[in-house]
Amino acid sequence: MIKVAIAGVGNCASSFIQGISFYKNDSETKGFVRKQIGDYQIKDVQIVGAIDVDKRLVGLDVAQAIFAGSNTAEKFSDVPEYGVKVVKGHTLDGVAPHMHDSFQVDENQAPIDIVQYLKDTEAEFLICYLPVGSEKAAKFYAEAALEAGVGFINAIPVFICSQPEWSDRFKQAGLVCAGDDIKSQFGATYLNRILVEGLMNRGFNIDNLYQLNVGGNTDFENMIDESRLQSKRISKTSAVTTLFKEGEAPALRIGPSDYVPHLKDAKICYINVNGTQFGNQKFELELKLKVEDSPNSAGVMLDVVRLAKVAKDKGLSGNIPVVSAFGFKSPADRLNETETLRMLDEFLA
Ligand SMILES: NC(=O)c1ccc[n+]([C@@H]2O[C@H](COP(=O)([O-])OP(=O)(O)OC[C@H]3O[C@@H](n4cnc5c(N)ncnc54)[C@H](O)[C@@H]3O)[C@@H](O)[C@H]2O)c1
Repeated sequence: MIKVAIAGVGNCASSFIQGISFYKNDSETKGFVRKQIGDYQIKDVQIVGAIDVDKRLVGLDVAQAIFAGSNTAEKFSDVPEYGVKVVKGHTLDGVAPHMHDSFQVDENQAPIDIVQYLKDTEAEFLICYLPVGSEKAAKFYAEAALEAGVGFINAIPVFICSQPEWSDRFKQAGLVCAGDDIKSQFGATYLNRILVEGLMNRGFNIDNLYQLNVGGNTDFENMIDESRLQSKRISKTSAVTTLFKEGEAPALRIGPSDYVPHLKDAKICYINVNGTQFGNQKFELELKLKVEDSPNSAGVMLDVVRLAKVAKDKGLSGNIPVVSAFGFKSPADRLNETETLRMLDEFLA
């Protein structure tokens, strides 16, 4: 088993945990990238710890918490009671001033000692699923993971695992880290990257590009505040600009654009590309993708957890370049999608 603790029991955690139950049934063959990663299947992932600050989630078994509070991710699987109750974390900057109705914190409820909790649960990895803009809180949990001897997987655009100073600290502690900002299985970033790669491989010149995203979950509500959104914009934009040679990226605008509550956990992305083709002729490409947001990232996270465990089994530590390039929008080492898959096969051979 791969023992995992989660900080932030929101929609992504809901789909991640439901996924473990859903794929317990071996006859389910659709929806994942790889059934087997090293010695591990999805059903080998085990939740041993859950941390949140919302008073409606704290104290509930994680199997109930994922459907409580403001969580709107679709239910696609029953989840048996784990015997793992959600414990109170440290709020810090996790809850933005405009989010107090959606993340309801009881200031009189004391947070627990996270380092001791991680040690007691014997977690091997802590997944950081906090809201965008939780700079202090994400770093607090990364420090706790280091101190407790637990690997760290960072789903959010706070730059930790991609930074040499953090990676070195995890390396010295003999722990794996992977991040930052989970890249969905087939989401706006992946789609935009393969489109750009494909157009460039076929000699089309891109003059300008935009990618606008709207959604109705608390992730999008949180990102209404542009000041919290900065790191997300950098992460999503650099995932595309780094495909171009330095200084050659076209004019572009990429990022979450609005919160539409009735969309719930659905996310819609619009991509528009203008450019020049053979004979200096113009082309325009316009595309819409609508997906359920949280399951789209959960599948990749279940791959990343298994890849991190394979890295641990191999005795590796610190940031694992191929794992971060495969699973995240802002890895330390920027590879295109074709190179990433080739390196992943080598890593798993
Ligand atoms: N496809 C995707 O859904 C996707 C892709 C890439 C990145 N992400 C990122 O993953 C993160 C999680 O997304 P989500 O949709 O589950 O968010 P969410 O809003 O559903 O859940 C966030 C949870 O964190 C809790 N929280 C807030 N501050 C906390 C603290 N200090 N300690 C512990 N818990 C705290 C909240 O109470 C809430 O339950 C977001 O940053 C999101 O941008 C998601």
